Amino acid sequence: MVEVRLDRITKRFGNFEAVKELSLTIKDGEFLVLLGPSGCGKTTTLRMISGLEEPSEGRIYFGDRDVTYLPPKDRNISMVFQSYAVWPHMTVYDNIAFPLKIKKYPREEIERKVKWAAELLQIGNLLDRYPGQLSGGQRQRVAVARAIVVEPDVLLMDEPLSNLDAKLRVTMRAEIKKLQTKLGVTTVYVTHDQVEAMTMGDRIAVMNMGRLLQVGPPTEVYLKPNSLFVATFIGAPEMNILKATLAGDGTTIEGDGFRIPLPGDFREILLDYSGKDVLVGIRPEHMTVKGVSTLEHVTRSAEIEGSVDFIEALGTDTIVHAKVGEKIIKVKLPGHIPIPIGEKIKIEIDLDNIHVFDPKTEKAIL
Ligand SMILES: Nc1ncnc2c1ncn2[C@@H]1O[C@H](COP(=O)(O)OP(=O)(O)OP(=O)(O)O)[C@@H](O)[C@H]1O
Ligand SMILES: [Mg+2]
Repeated sequence: MVEVRLDRITKRFGNFEAVKELSLTIKDGEFLVLLGPSGCGKTTTLRMISGLEEPSEGRIYFGDRDVTYLPPKDRNISMVFQSYAVWPHMTVYDNIAFPLKIKKYPREEIERKVKWAAELLQIGNLLDRYPGQLSGGQRQRVAVARAIVVEPDVLLMDEPLSNLDAKLRVTMRAEIKKLQTKLGVTTVYVTHDQVEAMTMGDRIAVMNMGRLLQVGPPTEVYLKPNSLFVATFIGAPEMNILKATLAGDGTTIEGDGFRIPLPGDFREILLDYSGKDVLVGIRPEHMTVKGVSTLEHVTRSAEIEGSVDFIEALGTDTIVHAKVGEKIIKVKLPGHIPIPIGEKIKIEIDLDNIHVFDPKTEKAIL
């Protein structure tokens, strides 16, 4: 096991910068999730850690060792890809044994290790089959078994579950996470699925357009996003964003159809923005509809008015689309709560969970 340190790595393809001055330390034994939209540079970053790609600038360290220009075979890493990269003409046994054969392990040791990896992935009964005789989920288990059989220092996974159906994905998520915890192998897991990131990662590193925007434990990234991008990328339904102006005396935030009085401690933080435009962010679950549901563990709240535009009944939750001024905002209520369309409602907001962003820099101010 090893700590992985990326020190200001940049990757250019021609003039195009796919990864920009990315610095990040993945702790020994940590499960780090690289999260971001398509094309943000996740795979490129992973390929640089693996040695399949060389950075244009910057350095990569495994512990004290500078591995920046070391070929993949000398790094003791394993990779699992999105497509089940298992060899169709080999049995499951031979697929898993393959990396050990290349390393010229003795036959008995290969047999012992293949059995160990297969048992861990619960495919011990499939060793004689060919990949064509396996389901997608089983094939991906073979790929993971083949990755861990060499007991790598670093395990790299690039959207390994995205070809599986929704139900299987949930099961495999939990299994990969448990397996990683058991093995304690330093892991970088790439996904653009925010639920996968939230449920699997010890920490999440959020990227956009080649840049690392924020890294932290899932709850921290969720509750204290440092930018508009991170705030809106994580969470479903997405955080509501409202255009607003901070009053000159800093006592209220006002926008189309709402006015939110601010507690004294917020005024100090927002002092520089008095009289200026800001963006207010509120997650759907940090609001409630007065009289039909209550907010738990809330010490300070504010109230705005709206009317019901639409109801999404999800069974476990109800998403109320409320019209506030000319804008529709979403309020998430636990349980099944029927409210008539058109009904005037009072929306209660948890003030300790509101966010304020600078509309120009898109950085979080509060
Ligand atoms: N070999 C290459 N040559 C030129 N451009 C490349 C190359 N590889 C990647 N890119 C570009 O670099 C950017 C980042 O690509 P990358 O594959 O890292 O994205 P990603 O975050 O993994 O996206 P996805 O979620 O779609 O897999 C993209 O704009 C891509 O087109
Ligand atoms: Mg990719």
